[in-house]
Amino acid sequence: MRVTIHDVARAAGVSVASASRALSGRRKVTPDVAERVNRAATDLGYQPNAVAKALRDQTTGTIGMVVPGIGNPFFTTMVEALERRLQENGRDLLLCSSQYDPLIEARRLETLLSRRVDGLIISPCDIEASAPAVLSAAGRAPLVQVDRYIEAGGTDWVGLDDDAALAQAVEHVAAGGARTVAFIGSRLMNSSARLRLSGFQLAVDRAGLETVAPLLGEFTHEWGMQAGRLLLGGDRMPDAVVCGNDEIAIGLLRALRLGGVRVPQEVAVVGIDDVGHAAMCDPPLTTVAQPVDEMATEAVRVLEQVRLGERRPVQRIAIAPRLVVRETSRRTEE
Ligand code: RIB
Repeated sequence: MRVTIHDVARAAGVSVASASRALSGRRKVTPDVAERVNRAATDLGYQPNAVAKALRDQTTGTIGMVVPGIGNPFFTTMVEALERRLQENGRDLLLCSSQYDPLIEARRLETLLSRRVDGLIISPCDIEASAPAVLSAAGRAPLVQVDRYIEAGGTDWVGLDDDAALAQAVEHVAAGGARTVAFIGSRLMNSSARLRLSGFQLAVDRAGLETVAPLLGEFTHEWGMQAGRLLLGGDRMPDAVVCGNDEIAIGLLRALRLGGVRVPQEVAVVGIDDVGHAAMCDPPLTTVAQPVDEMATEAVRVLEQVRLGERRPVQRIAIAPRLVVRETSRRTEE
């Protein structure tokens, strides 16, 4: 009776995925797991299945990617940057959208794995609910998270240095004379939303500015308009508003224009992303640019390291943002 990888895993008391990683030597496992698996394989006289190994080592030349939503220009800009980098390595990108739903996200990961992609790149839609599917996929194929990440550690991540981004935004409006600043962001379902709110609060405390309760909804124009109306209905307008992304800022600008509030004379507005429409707003939007090309380069580099089985600690690479001053904010000491 031929000894299989399942027999080895059972004898070693580990999962089949761990036994496979230990025997292939391409993916990192702890020394204890490696020792137990190799001893079990020797004791059982395990001979790797040559056909399965050939299939496993073959590459399909494709990388699967799952993003939360392709209607948001940030994700389409990120996908295009990754596609350019992957093509330089002779690989094609297979793109899926999770439609901001962890169940759809899990199904898309399984579909990509069934297509035997050489690796996976994902921006998880939910910091907690995405974790089981992301960790399961990471045990079966090289995987790197880009932009957003799951709360559970264990897989590499490349994204924006959100603390630095919010520091740049808040320091900029403070230098322009703002003393009260509001934040409009997304509900705290994903890492971007959480890190931007916490980064904003840190920066406001450091600058000694006053703030009001954050307005949290979605990373969308609609939410920006809705939150703008809430601010217009309040006791007094803040001197400045920092938005969790450009889509929110664009909706806010429309609400302020309809409410007869002049930007930046009465209220300064700053976004985050600088993709798509920011420069085409009226007035053009001051924002904090995400280093999308650099993030794509790093994500592809890290994914290749994982694919080649380089043993190293999990990497979390936060890349510096860049403030782009346009016309929705006041310049220093104006
Ligand atoms: O615009 C969508 C936002 O969510 C972007 O800022 C990006 O960081 C994503 O996480």
